[in-house]
Amino acid sequence: MTVNPKIERLRQLREQSRLGGGDERIKRQHEAGRNTARERLDILLDPGSFRELDAFVTHRSRDFGLDKQKFHGDSVVTGWGTINGRLVYVYSQDFTVMGGSLSEVHAEKIIKVMEMALKTGAPLIGLNDSGGARIQEGVISLGGYADIFLRNTLASGVIPQLSVIMGPCAGGAVYSPALTDFIFMVKDTSYMFITGPDVVKQVTHEDVSFEDLGGASVHASKSGVCHIVGENETQTLLLVREMMSYVPQNNMEDPPFVPTKDDPLRADPDLDTIIPDNPNKPYDIKEIIQRIVDDGVFYEIQPEYAANIVVGFARLGGHSIGIVANQPMVLAGVLDINASTKAARFIRFCDSFNIPIITLVDVPGYMPGTAQEHNGIIMSGAKLVYAYCEATMPKLTVTTRKAYGGAYCVMSSKHIRGDLNLAWPTAEIAVMGPEGAVEIIYRRDLKDADDAAGLKAQLAGDYREKLANPYIAAERGFIDDVIEPRETRARLINGLEVFQNKRDTNPPKKHGNIPL
Ligand code: HXC
Repeated sequence: MTVNPKIERLRQLREQSRLGGGDERIKRQHEAGRNTARERLDILLDPGSFRELDAFVTHRSRDFGLDKQKFHGDSVVTGWGTINGRLVYVYSQDFTVMGGSLSEVHAEKIIKVMEMALKTGAPLIGLNDSGGARIQEGVISLGGYADIFLRNTLASGVIPQLSVIMGPCAGGAVYSPALTDFIFMVKDTSYMFITGPDVVKQVTHEDVSFEDLGGASVHASKSGVCHIVGENETQTLLLVREMMSYVPQNNMEDPPFVPTKDDPLRADPDLDTIIPDNPNKPYDIKEIIQRIVDDGVFYEIQPEYAANIVVGFARLGGHSIGIVANQPMVLAGVLDINASTKAARFIRFCDSFNIPIITLVDVPGYMPGTAQEHNGIIMSGAKLVYAYCEATMPKLTVTTRKAYGGAYCVMSSKHIRGDLNLAWPTAEIAVMGPEGAVEIIYRRDLKDADDAAGLKAQLAGDYREKLANPYIAAERGFIDDVIEPRETRARLINGLEVFQNKRDTNPPKKHGNIPL
């Protein structure tokens, strides 16, 4: 049977569009260990769910020889699809077409899906692989970026926005991902920087490689720009799918409930002995998290950055939760600039999308020292206070051991609208640790004592018994209950169910002024 020539024409155009920059450039992309824009979408989305938009769009510029090379769809593939059956909007930059550079129509295509995502209340996922502004289009291209930044900002807190860096992302182009909620990067094949190694060399005379300047490991461990690193493209995209299972479609929806076979009343007797007898000995807070949450599954965010605080998603009794936990294994779980910023940002994401926060507290205080003071721990520490104070989602807190000083106030205490504040019998809640406290309040006695060390140990023991325990806070109602560690899971699940319909508000305002 002969095919209608008009249908044949449509098929040809679609095929041209599917080929992007052509076989040769696709080959180069594969040789560089990278997939094409469409192959990436096939991995990210449920099979067969992708519906492409604007496959026939071509660039408008005619200068610098651009009239001679036109690519159907230009340098980005856009549309919608599903992840585990839930709608998401996507764009995937096509490096095989003029290096995935952002033209006027490239920006228009992205903006179209952004606006659809906002209108229909569905997440937006951007796969970035681009040489930046299309050089031939000049300011028109720059305007396209600014148009995207505006939509990123307007969508912030309304729909989840995820960015995946799968190749170059340079110059001002980095600010669209930076305005989104989470940045994923692929190990070894992706990089982000404001200016590349050549400009760095000219300006600061530093010799630095692409990888050392802006590779995934740098941004995951040093700058904190990247939240999740995948070993390769496929793993990275599967990690995006996994994250989507914890987040709601928009700020008006509840996070997805995933039934579990893990018994909500499951007691874990090993938790009763997990805190070492010596209060200065570390233990791994991640072990406690894994023992408490459904099926031991914890989706950690920024594991290599500011590891003295642990943040991530998990489920309790099927409810999606965010976890913020001090990590005694790293710097004794102290709060410093990076930890405060990391946790504050995560809390604000969870609050925007009504994901309850479980806070596990074991914190000796804020980090002392000139480096921290001179770099602004006062302002950065205040970010964390602000984030917890303004948050209105359910806030459940368990103090496992130390909650000293300002850090006690900050870590989701009752005073800043903690909904359920539990403590283990091992908790020590006081202005400061016993050793530091006795040195201050008994300074003179210790100076005059024959056996200063012996006296200090005795006084510290006395202080610990009298003040460094959970019962003084519990007497005041600052702690709602002191529980046996083994019952933590059951108590938290019960608390989540009690507080899931909680309504709390902040005074009407244009917006607050978080200490930036
Ligand atoms: C137009 C571009 C392009 C661009 C790359 N290409 N970048 N075309 N505008 N910005 C084209 C190349 O001409 C080439 O076309 C193809 O894409 C692949 O590029 P290669 O250089 O061959 O690839 P590779 O060796 O992998 O190098 C990738 C790269 C390099 C490191 C990204 O292309 C590069 O440095 N590009 C320029 C980056 C840049 O300075 N961009 C502007 C940043 S400032 P053919 O036809 O040969 O396949 C910016 C401002 C944003 O973006 C402001 C927002 C506020």
